[in-house]
Amino acid sequence: MSFLEAYDAANGADKLKVLFHALATEPLRMFAELREKRPILVTPRAVLLTRFADVQEALSRHMVFTVRPYAPKMDPVVGPFMLARDGTDCNQRDKGIMRALIQQSDMPKVRRTVARLAARAIHEGAADGRLELVSQLTRRVPVMLTGKYFGFWGPDEATMMDWSYATQNDMFHNLTDDETIHEANLKAGREMKEYLEAFLPEQLQFVRQDSSLDDVVSRLLGTVLPETIGFDMARVMTNTMGLLVGGVETTSAAIVQAVDQLLDRPAELAAAIKAAKDGDDDTFDRYFWEALRFNPMNPFIVRLGVAEYTIASGTDRQTTIPAGTVVFCSNASAMHDAAELPSPETFRLDRPDYHYMHFGYGNHVCLGDQVSLVQAPEITKQLFLAGYTERADGPAGHLDFQGGSFPETFTLVQANG
Ligand code: HEM
Repeated sequence: MSFLEAYDAANGADKLKVLFHALATEPLRMFAELREKRPILVTPRAVLLTRFADVQEALSRHMVFTVRPYAPKMDPVVGPFMLARDGTDCNQRDKGIMRALIQQSDMPKVRRTVARLAARAIHEGAADGRLELVSQLTRRVPVMLTGKYFGFWGPDEATMMDWSYATQNDMFHNLTDDETIHEANLKAGREMKEYLEAFLPEQLQFVRQDSSLDDVVSRLLGTVLPETIGFDMARVMTNTMGLLVGGVETTSAAIVQAVDQLLDRPAELAAAIKAAKDGDDDTFDRYFWEALRFNPMNPFIVRLGVAEYTIASGTDRQTTIPAGTVVFCSNASAMHDAAELPSPETFRLDRPDYHYMHFGYGNHVCLGDQVSLVQAPEITKQLFLAGYTERADGPAGHLDFQGGSFPETFTLVQANG
């Protein structure tokens, strides 16, 4: 039975169950059917957009399709944050300041740092030619980089991982508003604040004494802004927390999902390994982002429509979305839309950057996009250079979410090891 046959046969709330089951088990097949037969799926509680043009249209109308659903999960934990606000000082000022401090010209150095951190993590984590990626590499390196480049070290790696997990899980994956998941998020927020309330004033003293301190948090603390714009210590704290919340589980999932796709394609894997050995980062990175297109980090981006809006106006799929509707903008589906991407089911290296929406689109495009464009592929490159290019035997060699929101285990072995 196809997805739409099952969906149409289900009643009321069961329709959403059918939708989420298909999302979890065979998202690309479901999206392909929807793009062809029902590109704008109107469900009892939400609308799902699957076409490239419609996803970009919704995500660029940020005063209509707003980020309001994030606020109840973010405000009590990190305070007012750029990703939970639209068209406000908080969003425009904070993103502008943070964009100015995470400089594109830092990226070659960030890449070298990531290379060193990844090589070290692989060395420390590998045993008998086996490496469990999630615990030993793909969560560890982003946490270490959050200290080394962003300047938010935290008390220790394990605590940073706990904070990152608890916040991401509630803010982005708790669609059913599970209380236990929300409580864990609140607890992580309280602990982070307590830590930063001691750390930030102390770091400010260091920054005043030593102008060579040059991580992002030190730059933030060293930035002198007029009081009237309202960027005070509370704003510094919120944006420091945002660097951890946004950066770890996203990167970890992207890496293991891209690696998983590459391992399923021996020719592309061999070519990516060759690019890694040749030091051809540009080609290697293309393999990485194209592989991720076949299983992107997130299936969709959630918005709340606050005014009636007719999407895809003038086309045969035009649909009026009433105010108060939750809208799922599927960047994963959009990246397979044949109306925009030539031969979307083919693995190709010649796609322009604007066909990728791994980092979202529009006003809330990822703050860590430049960092991630080097970090995620570089960690993968180091993995391959260390020879970890084959799945471990049995279930260990396959991605395992252990029933949760994030990839938890995935073990590789060294080739000929
Ligand atoms: C491969 C890794 C990453 C992926 C795939 C990713 C993906 C995304 C996506 C899809 C969004 C848009 C969310 C929305 O519109 O609702 C986003 C926003 C955001 N990301 Fe990332 N992200 C990654 C890494 C990072 C890193 C390393 C940071 C650390 C700075 C970060 C910080 C943020 C922040 C602060 C936002 C909100 C931006 C805003 O509201 O304007 N992300 N990310």
